[in-house]
Amino acid sequence: MTTPNDLLLQVLAGKETPRPPVWLMRQAGRILPEYRAVRSRLSGFKELVETPELACEVTIQPVDLLGVDAAILFSDILVIPEAMGLPYQLIEKVGPRFEETISCKADLDRLHPVEPEEHLRYVMDAMRMTRAELDGRVPLIGFAGAPWTIFCYMVEGGGSKEWSKARRMLRSEPVLAEELLDRITEATILYLNAQVAAGAQVLQLFDSWAGALSAELFERYSMPRLKRICEEVKGAPLIVFAKGASWQLDRLAQLPCAALGIDWHTPISEARKRAPRHVLQGNLDPSVLYGTEAEVRAATQRMLSDFGRGGHVANLGHGVYPDINPDRVRDFIDEVKRSGH
Ligand code: CP3
Repeated sequence: MTTPNDLLLQVLAGKETPRPPVWLMRQAGRILPEYRAVRSRLSGFKELVETPELACEVTIQPVDLLGVDAAILFSDILVIPEAMGLPYQLIEKVGPRFEETISCKADLDRLHPVEPEEHLRYVMDAMRMTRAELDGRVPLIGFAGAPWTIFCYMVEGGGSKEWSKARRMLRSEPVLAEELLDRITEATILYLNAQVAAGAQVLQLFDSWAGALSAELFERYSMPRLKRICEEVKGAPLIVFAKGASWQLDRLAQLPCAALGIDWHTPISEARKRAPRHVLQGNLDPSVLYGTEAEVRAATQRMLSDFGRGGHVANLGHGVYPDINPDRVRDFIDEVKRSGH
């Protein structure tokens, strides 16, 4: 029997540990040939997301093959808009696409509230199955997109560099925008609480496009909803990762969450100064992993010493890139683990 590893839970509870726990955003899928082998037998990404046995298998792959200290459920943030009534497709080499988008009140009125055990049953089943299968080896992380990030996809209909349609709606239709953001917030609270009931031990909120908002827009449209989610989601520590919003870190530090994710643009000393009471997660630049083993190890050491002892979850400053060599990911993980010796 392997010893249960609850380093992540301990650090998020504010306890001292011999070393920081380590996991990677987007560790499930993308970089592992073993993931691609499972994926290639299927009709597509959604079949994998919607088949609990397979989602469970690829969630556990990085625990076995990379040695991370946590598993993050294999799913996607886009299951929420779909559960609200906007189906998406993932188009190879293009990305997510929504056939219908939200541009007026009539579109909004076609959306419906989310019942997680009904509309997202496959996520809940995958969570229960994975928690049982992990058997305490490492904690299981659940997640959702933050309201602003989900709003971006529902208004634009796919990825974007500028998110100009989404930002235009904030300016030209503030009432409609607020209503859509509130509906997403309600669905997200139900969804995250249902994930906890199904076995998630830690939760992460991905605000991947927070960096598209000005301080004024962030304050009005994003902050109150992040705060509401922090207050209404119970039973598991929450990590809030607002990418590109590190200049808002003093505002984010007002959130009642267990930890804040730090992107790779943010100097660590600055983050510690501006969010002194929070556990911080991050923040190695993922492109460091394109370097040599020695470079990866040296950069990891620098990151660890900049964060200092305690209150740190080692991670990248955004998701791992699909063409990164898994051996360099192993070097990163190994270097963090060696820091406890
Ligand atoms: O972290 C993990 O390993 C768990 C699984 C996970 C996926 N997506 C699987 C996935 C998580 C946590 C996400 C979150 C997600 N999805 C975010 C927030 C994180 C971030 O990177 O900022 C966003 C913005 C999305 C939306 C999304 N899903 C995009 C833009 C794409 C296409 C590009 C890509 O590969 O990321 C997806 C598809 C997707 N989600 C894949 C995976 C493994 C690729 C599917 C495949 O081709 O097999």
